[in-house]
Amino acid sequence: MAMDTLPHAAGIIGAVVPRIDGSLKTTGTARYAVDHNFPNLVHAVAVQANIGKGRIRSLDASAAEKMPGVVLVMHHGKIDNVYRFYPHESDGTISEARPPFSDDKVYYWGQFVAAVVAETLEQAKAAAASIKVEYEAETPDVKTDLSDFDGERPESWKRGDPDKALASAAITLDQTYVTPVETHNPMELHGTVAVWDGENYTLYECTQGVVNHRVVMSQVLGVPRENVRIISRFIGSGFGGKLFPWPQSSIAASAARTLNRPVKISVDRRMMFSNTGHRPHTQQRIRLGATQDGKLTAIRHDFFTQTSQLDDFVEHCGEQTPFLYSCPNLVVTTGMVRRNVGAPAPMRGPGAVPGLFALESAMNELAEKLKMDPVEFRLKNDAERDEGKNLPFSSRHLKECWTTGAEKIGWKNRTPEPGSMRRNGKFTGLGLGSASWSAARIPCTASVELCPNGRVCVRCATQDIGTGTYTIFAQVIHAATGVPLDRIDVFLGDSSLPEGPTSGGSMATSAVLPAATTATNSAVTRLLHIAASLPDSPFHGMKPENLAISNGRVMQKGDQQPKVVGVSMNSGRQLSANGIPFEEVLKMANLSGITATGKTAPSFEDPKAKQYSLHSYGCHFAEVEWEPEIARLRVSRVVSVFDCGRIINKGAGTNQMLGAVVMGLGMSLFEETVHDHRTGQPINNNFADYIVPTIADLPDLDITFLDYPDYIVNEYGARGIGEIGMAGVAPAITDAVYNATGVRVRELPVRIEDLLKSTIHEA
Ligand code: MOS
Repeated sequence: MAMDTLPHAAGIIGAVVPRIDGSLKTTGTARYAVDHNFPNLVHAVAVQANIGKGRIRSLDASAAEKMPGVVLVMHHGKIDNVYRFYPHESDGTISEARPPFSDDKVYYWGQFVAAVVAETLEQAKAAAASIKVEYEAETPDVKTDLSDFDGERPESWKRGDPDKALASAAITLDQTYVTPVETHNPMELHGTVAVWDGENYTLYECTQGVVNHRVVMSQVLGVPRENVRIISRFIGSGFGGKLFPWPQSSIAASAARTLNRPVKISVDRRMMFSNTGHRPHTQQRIRLGATQDGKLTAIRHDFFTQTSQLDDFVEHCGEQTPFLYSCPNLVVTTGMVRRNVGAPAPMRGPGAVPGLFALESAMNELAEKLKMDPVEFRLKNDAERDEGKNLPFSSRHLKECWTTGAEKIGWKNRTPEPGSMRRNGKFTGLGLGSASWSAARIPCTASVELCPNGRVCVRCATQDIGTGTYTIFAQVIHAATGVPLDRIDVFLGDSSLPEGPTSGGSMATSAVLPAATTATNSAVTRLLHIAASLPDSPFHGMKPENLAISNGRVMQKGDQQPKVVGVSMNSGRQLSANGIPFEEVLKMANLSGITATGKTAPSFEDPKAKQYSLHSYGCHFAEVEWEPEIARLRVSRVVSVFDCGRIINKGAGTNQMLGAVVMGLGMSLFEETVHDHRTGQPINNNFADYIVPTIADLPDLDITFLDYPDYIVNEYGARGIGEIGMAGVAPAITDAVYNATGVRVRELPVRIEDLLKSTIHEA
């Protein structure tokens, strides 16, 4: 849709609005972190350990140091002060807490053990390859079976007596579900360009949180926050892998200080499989109990999650379990199992995505045991309130998600017996899975400036990770002022701007909306006061509250119906001559602009919001086609319905959900990072061997938003989208696979080997 045919003013909220930064992306004008270049810049290349556990016995960099162009070699015992990050209060998060090169130990394959800085990238690569490291190697522990864990398993969310209820339940289910390590594969590689001016650091980063990155790096570098500036204006996605700083940032900043030259470092695709996070392996035992007529009486969700040797990242698989269904007896237990892998990280829908694969698969299996339709089974067990927190839901329309999705996919024609449905000579199967994700309003400050050139500038130290945050700001300003989108300049991705939220947890949109609105309204109020008070103003002597801004012009209230003076050649939109342009008011007052700041108060400090359970909901219905003769499985259709509050930009919102469903399809059928048990190396650490869905793999995808506003979260009723789109896809697909083939896959991804066990053949 062209910008000039968009709905006008307040109508732009909820419309399909093309990204205002779209052309910068498609023309290659938008620069990612390592696209930045400076005079005198040098290149750093890291050296990775090729053992998974052990000690560096010796490291010989003598050849590298003499090679052409080499200006610095860094390794254990040779790195200028970088400190360990430890959060002040709850302020700041780092991914891998151990600073680079801080001891001679190797904790995981691929760990950085050295880095070479040289005049050119090629010189740095050649010198890095010449570094000789000898190790005392031990056998790394990268076992995928996590059952050997015998450590502490804290209970959470316990209510009633789940064990007693399970023992006495009429119908029970006890199954274990496994999800593998998955690696984030954003388009943009991780990387840093570090510039030091003798006092201040400017770090060009790919980060989902410029503010957090500054907090962390100021401590790592041992300087005040004021001396660190993080710039991340465009990001080629993150999916959680770029939430918190990784070691390459410290290496680049330290080298820039040592050399007093700008330093660029890039983490290549292969390195990203070991050094910049992953979704950890999970193993989840689900026990369910129900009455004969299908009312849940007990839920036990006991899970193990793999983590690294030094960091305590937990994949919170049980997070959605306490409130999704009504059930009087419930408990979740967690076990954190250490392996020789790099630090895991949040990955799209952390906790919920593997957690709901387990819970929703179990729900589908129990429905079969009960001989109940799985949609009916869910409707019967829907929760009226959050029984985990004992709070009412702010807004929950999960039932409508199920019934709408069932209608759209044609669920009533499904027959539950495996292999009972056929189309065009192929077996078909249908399955479903529910989705949920937490909602919150996190703090944000934004400033809005009415400029004398007739433009409006908005500034906020959040960032657009590809989801459309730039455009959301512009929509809010346009809705409040009528200033056209092409006269709105949005400045994000710079820690020197007013403090904004991390782009994580699908919470950026709900955080920025109130701050941007308050700032705009406050700037406009000042403008109207000035318009009413200036002696030369046509509004002199009027009450400011009787004035308004519309179409970017100051006018009397009630005068907003345009006096048409012509029609735009471009848009066909009527041109009005009501009032005067806001920049004329600034000119009359001899002002260089009017700036106002707005703040978003967090929901966790809001007495009203604290009385509610805030979540988004959804579900997916999947259809697969199965051709046993050639062992070919294809996902042929996915219908997804979401209850995520009001959608602010239907274009960007739908785009987010489509991407998330595609990631869910990858999780179901392809994605798995495999570690070699002898060395600990991720052996499929490249795009040839780590399979992600391509366009050819994609079915017909159908996204529906119910669009019920949730005003507890903010005045727009918007909760936030993105991560929820991936939750529930995998159980829908594996359930459809069962319906088509008779094979229940409880360990992802679905493999051809699993499907060959099918006893359903051509009739
Ligand atoms: Mo999301 S995993 O918080 O980027």
